[in-house]
Amino acid sequence: MPAVVLVGAQWGDEGKGKITDFLAEQADCIVRYQGGSNAGHTVELAKEKFMLHLIPSGILHAEKLCVIGNGVVVDLGKVIEEIDGLHQRGIDTSNLRISSRASVVMPYHKKIDEIEDRTKKIGTTKRGIGPTYADKISRIGFRISDLLHEEYFREKFAAEVERKNRLLEDFYDEPGFDADVMLEQLMTQIGILKKYIADTACLVHTDLRVGKNVLFEGAQGTLLDIDHGTYPFVTSSYPTAGGACVGSGIGPTEIGKVIGVAKAYTTRVGEGPFPTELEDATGELLRDRGAEFGVTTGRPRRCGWLDAVILRYAARINGLTDLAITKLDVLDSFETVKICVAYRYKGELLYEFPDNIHVLQECIPEYIEMPGWNQDISQITEFNNLPLATRNYIAKIEELSGVKQSLLAVGPKRSQTIVTNSLF
Ligand code: GDP
Ligand code: IMO
Ligand code: MG
Repeated sequence: MPAVVLVGAQWGDEGKGKITDFLAEQADCIVRYQGGSNAGHTVELAKEKFMLHLIPSGILHAEKLCVIGNGVVVDLGKVIEEIDGLHQRGIDTSNLRISSRASVVMPYHKKIDEIEDRTKKIGTTKRGIGPTYADKISRIGFRISDLLHEEYFREKFAAEVERKNRLLEDFYDEPGFDADVMLEQLMTQIGILKKYIADTACLVHTDLRVGKNVLFEGAQGTLLDIDHGTYPFVTSSYPTAGGACVGSGIGPTEIGKVIGVAKAYTTRVGEGPFPTELEDATGELLRDRGAEFGVTTGRPRRCGWLDAVILRYAARINGLTDLAITKLDVLDSFETVKICVAYRYKGELLYEFPDNIHVLQECIPEYIEMPGWNQDISQITEFNNLPLATRNYIAKIEELSGVKQSLLAVGPKRSQTIVTNSLF
């Protein structure tokens, strides 16, 4: 089946950008279906490095239709910045399409996100994601199509700004926004973006009908999902595979494969429980070797050993058919490597991921330890040329997660990818 969904299997930053770019070679259309400019997806070519936030990581391949779906929350200023940045580097964006049904991130959403995170302490990216999704669900948000009909939009927008100003000024003691100034800016922005706006669900549907390959690029990760993640330390969307349907306007019967991208270890950025976190020299080593600093905010990422409880959970929640295991090269210098196979909670062994963060907070990982490979694998291009210890580590991940691997990454560049099963 031509629709393949790619999701993060952990807490985000698994290398989804790299794998999307790699698979985009065989795809005709690449679709982002949720999240917003909180995402930071890195694609490294031989000599150049790109950081994408809203635009699908397929954009570096000419001729591919790249879609920002209805489930995405779009910061118009950021998307214009990203388009301009790509143009300056000679990348064509004429095949980009933005859903007219996508929600718009307003300046007040970013301000509210920043203010509320001071007390909620989720450690958000301050990109206005939560407040924009909250307004969408409360049916007081604005969609791209609203901005294209200024005659209806103007009055409703003025009333909403007034409400938001009351919240900001009276409750938070912060300055409010000028609706007219914002309106003028929004109209300029929508004028620039007009040529990209479309009913993208129709475009994706047409591609699927004629048998073209469509790749859905998840942002964030399974454990940041609003329902299935470590609530409330999550994002406000559905990064899991089901999100691809609602966030792009396709039915579940279209999806043939679901690829879970997982790092060979675990990282997390922002607050919230993280059972295998290493706050010691080993954690530092993973951060240094893996260059674990956020693409969007520059924050150091928390690092720890691989957690197979999480991978099993991600396999179940997303219906994973394949794994893409990234950053194996980061483990190159370890004598031994560990994998968490279960949690010990108040003396009892847990094999399923807990539904409560207070329980998760008290879970102690039960590890198995395996020999490391202690050699540079970053230039290896064939699975069979990987050291036996690396292959054993990969086989253990497959066994513990119950999912076969189809792609391995041994470095950030396109060429540092090992394909073991074809995905399209
Ligand atoms: P995403 O948000 O899932 O797209 O991941 P990020 O781009 O935020 O973070 C992944 C980081 O790891 C980026 O800097 C990538 O260039 C890098 N990366 C991806 N795959 C590999 C790999 O196999 N090895 C190494 N060393 N780096 C990788
Ligand atoms: P990619 O797509 C890692 C985290 C934030 C915070 C929480 C909520 O690059 O994998 P938000 O701004 O979304 O309301 O923040 O989610 N977070 C991410 N962590 N990778 C991401 O995206 C993330 N996007 C949001 O750090 O803990
Ligand atoms: Mg990222």
